[in-house]
Amino acid sequence: MTSWFSKLVVGMTIRMPKWFVGWVSRRYVAGNNIEDAIRVMQRLSKENACFTVDVLGEEISTMSEAQYFCDEYSRLIDEIIKHEIDSNISIKPTAFGLLVDREKGYENIRKIVAMAAQHEMFVRLDMEDHRVTQDTIDVVVQLHSEGLTNVGTVYQGRLFRTFDDIDYLEGKLGPAADYRICKGIYLEPSSIAHSGYREIVSATNASIDKMLSAGAYCAIASHDKPVIDHALSALKAHGMGPKTPDPRNNAGSQRNGKGPGYEFQMLLGVRGPMRRKLAAQGHRTRVYVPYGKQWYEYSIRRLKENPTVGAQVAKAFLLPWTNRP
Ligand code: FDA
Repeated sequence: MTSWFSKLVVGMTIRMPKWFVGWVSRRYVAGNNIEDAIRVMQRLSKENACFTVDVLGEEISTMSEAQYFCDEYSRLIDEIIKHEIDSNISIKPTAFGLLVDREKGYENIRKIVAMAAQHEMFVRLDMEDHRVTQDTIDVVVQLHSEGLTNVGTVYQGRLFRTFDDIDYLEGKLGPAADYRICKGIYLEPSSIAHSGYREIVSATNASIDKMLSAGAYCAIASHDKPVIDHALSALKAHGMGPKTPDPRNNAGSQRNGKGPGYEFQMLLGVRGPMRRKLAAQGHRTRVYVPYGKQWYEYSIRRLKENPTVGAQVAKAFLLPWTNRP
């Protein structure tokens, strides 16, 4: 898709009535509340999927706004446990106040990670734009140093710094490092990030190789065939695969709710057939399930931030055979 088309789709969508944006988003957002997310997960459990749930919303401007996320995530943890769903949670550090007050933001995140730890639940800190890359990594290191090891973050293949960041986390956490690796949704300046498709794919694939060699847990979060195919051959080269205990000499210990050193992750509503195929081959596949009352702001912001998302959504609706939920 050409960039003029992406921009056209975005330009049109943000002028559409809210009900229309809601109708389009229905496929990608579980709903307004926890009950909606639970229902979606119960349905997709039948496809051998496991989950990570995200409460929609990000960067707050006053610390009092963080309370909503603290309360909602703690209720979410209870509901996941109550319904015995195979799910962990994903959180956005800026929603907890990391950019407003670093110490209070950290404390909010620590409480949620500690609560999840009581249920042996993993917490993924989603990676946001470059303003918080270092802070997010530092939070993970600090939590591990306090004995909260049920936490990991996301690295973005497009950032030049990612290679060094893998070394950094390996130095700090060894094989206890637990990554989600993705291309990165934020369009970062060309001084710090790749912008071409090929460069981003090749940097993402190289990061997967480096994480696997480091013994780290590697969650491959992509719907792109060249990335998935590369990951499958890299796993094979390491002797890793479905239902095989992680054979790497330097592997981290197997954690509850995790695959044998790796898993695949995809977004709700995107490339279902590919996910189901991986699941049928025995790979652990996790669906990222966003829900929340801020779905409208989330959808519009994502579209403005990265217009190619708009083109992908339009393509999925106009040419449904290219991308079924
Ligand atoms: P690519 O964009 O090339 O997509 C491949 C194909 O998948 C497209 O042609 C299209 O068919 C389909 N597709 C992909 N995205 C779609 C969409 N939104 N709607 C419709 N179709 C779509 N980023 C980040 O910066 N920080 C983070 O923490 C995360 N977390 C995260 C979790 C999970 C589970 C996933 C899958 C992704 C993320 N991302 C992310 C987003 C990620 O960085 C990236 O922007 C998207 O996954 C799109 O890149 P792909 O590798 O899928 O390739």
